[in-house]
Amino acid sequence: MNNYNNKETKNIKNNCFKFDVKKKSISDSNIKMETKTTNKMSMISHNIKKRKHPNDVFITPVELAKKLIKFHNNNDDELIWLDPFKNNGSFYNNFPDENPKDWCEILLGMDFFKYEHKVDIISSNPPYSMLDDVLEKTYQICRKEFGYLIGMRNLTTRRIEIANKNGFFIKSMFITKVFRFYGMSVYVVFSKEINVNLVQFDRTVWKENGKNKWDKKKNNK
Ligand SMILES: C[S@@+](CC[C@H](N)C(=O)[O-])C[C@H]1O[C@@H](n2cnc3c(N)ncnc32)[C@H](O)[C@@H]1O
Repeated sequence: MNNYNNKETKNIKNNCFKFDVKKKSISDSNIKMETKTTNKMSMISHNIKKRKHPNDVFITPVELAKKLIKFHNNNDDELIWLDPFKNNGSFYNNFPDENPKDWCEILLGMDFFKYEHKVDIISSNPPYSMLDDVLEKTYQICRKEFGYLIGMRNLTTRRIEIANKNGFFIKSMFITKVFRFYGMSVYVVFSKEINVNLVQFDRTVWKENGKNKWDKKKNNK
């Protein structure tokens, strides 16, 4: 199992992706300020893939992490928990005390993609820019279920289908908003202990035949 000290914690903090945004309430005198702030936030959001910090460091509020961990059915003290992206430990520190637990964090030299053990429950907030790779690795090492806090728009039907092909089905979804995270977030738990998703979807791209502008253009040719 891994450990880290205060110096390492400080390094993590220094590496964090910081937003320099001063939030003010709207009043006549500071509408301008608020608009500037909004522009800055949307600029950050739109540049999310181009940002300088490739490790995607977004810290989950501890109280939220505690709530999300409870979505897992910890019915056995021997189940091994893993936080693959620990950072300051919002998830890891709050895993059940009675269970064996482990972590990875690239800033501390523990690369999840090099992790070789099998675990039972994985719970974390993964780096968004490499979500497909993260999921692929998760399927290889997770024996029971995993929950990831991800952007709502990242929960695509393609990803759900791939999870299903790997034997994992959606057990629960908790939708929430985290300050400074892009859009709405969802904590989605995929489990191997069920064989049907507890949400429904299809992969059809629906459209009104002949009634959208692209079809009209095509018909006029
Ligand atoms: C979105 S942050 C979440 C941090 C923490 N789990 C939380 O919820 O507060 C993702 C974390 O993954 C780490 N990370 C990125 N790539 C990694 C890798 N290959 N292996 C382990 N950790 C990685 C980043 O350094 C960052 O701390």
